[in-house]
Amino acid sequence: MLRIGIVGTARILPSHLRGMRALLQAGLADFRITALVGRTTAGAMAFRRRGEGPAPRPPVGAPGDPLAAEHLYVSDVHPDTLPECFGDVRAMLDAGCVDAVLLLTPVHLHHTQAIACLEAGVHVLCEKPLAVSVRAGRAMVEAALRHGRVLGVAEGVAYDATVRLQAWAVRGGVVGPVEMVLMGGVGTGAWSPDRIVAETPWRHRKLEAGGGPSIDIGVHQFDHIRAVAGEVAEVTAMTARFAPERVTPGPDGSVSQRVHPDVEDTFHAVFRLATGGLGHVSFSWAGHGDPTFWPGGPVVYGGRGVLKGRRWQPEGGAEVDLASLAGAEAQQDAWFPGGIRDTKALQFLDFLRAVSGGPTMEADGDQGLADLACAMAVLESAAARQVVRVADVLSGAVDAYQRPIDTAHGLGGLT
Ligand SMILES: NC(=O)c1ccc[n+]([C@@H]2O[C@H](COP(=O)([O-])OP(=O)(O)OC[C@H]3O[C@@H](n4cnc5c(N)ncnc54)[C@H](O)[C@@H]3O)[C@@H](O)[C@H]2O)c1
Repeated sequence: MLRIGIVGTARILPSHLRGMRALLQAGLADFRITALVGRTTAGAMAFRRRGEGPAPRPPVGAPGDPLAAEHLYVSDVHPDTLPECFGDVRAMLDAGCVDAVLLLTPVHLHHTQAIACLEAGVHVLCEKPLAVSVRAGRAMVEAALRHGRVLGVAEGVAYDATVRLQAWAVRGGVVGPVEMVLMGGVGTGAWSPDRIVAETPWRHRKLEAGGGPSIDIGVHQFDHIRAVAGEVAEVTAMTARFAPERVTPGPDGSVSQRVHPDVEDTFHAVFRLATGGLGHVSFSWAGHGDPTFWPGGPVVYGGRGVLKGRRWQPEGGAEVDLASLAGAEAQQDAWFPGGIRDTKALQFLDFLRAVSGGPTMEADGDQGLADLACAMAVLESAAARQVVRVADVLSGAVDAYQRPIDTAHGLGGLT
């Protein structure tokens, strides 16, 4: 039985607990959450047992957002074992009570906390984005390699049904060579044009988040694009900050949080795939009025027709749901063990299997780093006002935007 530590009593935690419970209920995994780490030991009690400890912050966001998931507690996942609570990662590691951790802290803490765990021989599944900079992410990947431990990134995208279907259709030749990929949107319904995203001011500060939506949303988007269409070779982008101030309104209409962002709230990028196809990716936390998204989710134009989300329209033919194609049906058991479709459950199962000596995790540290390099290429391109190669961002040859972050976090930087 694997002993799991959870670091960060985050808003995203209940959605992970829901996935973990689904795995135990389906008999697909054998683990117990044996440690909870917060900023204080008392704070860590918030999710230990229903009705005990300080009340967790209320969920936030529009329905369907994982941050809007209703509270769930470790006692709801497995009543037979309650975790020890700690006020910092080092205390948890010194207690020797975990084999692996799920890391759910703000982005600028990922690399130091993950590396401390890996050095102590503990496997790490880290929430996205992998790190606050490419250099920080690379240090995590190198630490995992050095210590022979699993490092995964909880982006979830690779395990999503639409992504699975689109990737299958492109890789299997249904769509033909990818010519164009279109992905993005303006506005969120909950945070646009000037609300503090997820009521977390750190998301609007460069040294804590790495960037705005280019990073927070961009790693998901590039994960999807790469899963479906292969590697992104180069990026050219522009960014803007339309809202100089963001707030969280209090219950009586007063302002309960206020932040003056130093990151973008909007990006538009054009990219070239390694195969020669082109794409456009964007996202904005600004946008007055109704949100807008590319119709039907990511749109992929191939040599034989167009994919809009899971809808496939062969040139000159009738539209079908990709899931109805015979080849896709045959994949269901491999893609969704036990019929589970919750991406948090599926990625955690993949992590547990890798930790137990199974195949390499699909969303491993290398994948998280590659997604981060694409997302950082957006910000490097916008800062330099030129086209950048993703390989140069990954190697560190292009890092002007990130240098202040690396300097602040003691990762080298300004020369
Ligand atoms: N995969 C997704 O769809 C998704 C969605 C939302 C958030 N996220 C990611 O999840 C992570 C957390 O995001 P969130 O919105 O839940 O943030 P949050 O600010 O609500 O949660 C972070 C938690 O970390 C705790 N923390 C801070 N410093 C700590 C320390 N030194 N030790 C232990 N705990 C500490 C805070 O108290 C807080 O509870 C981020 O990496 C974010 O990008 C992923």
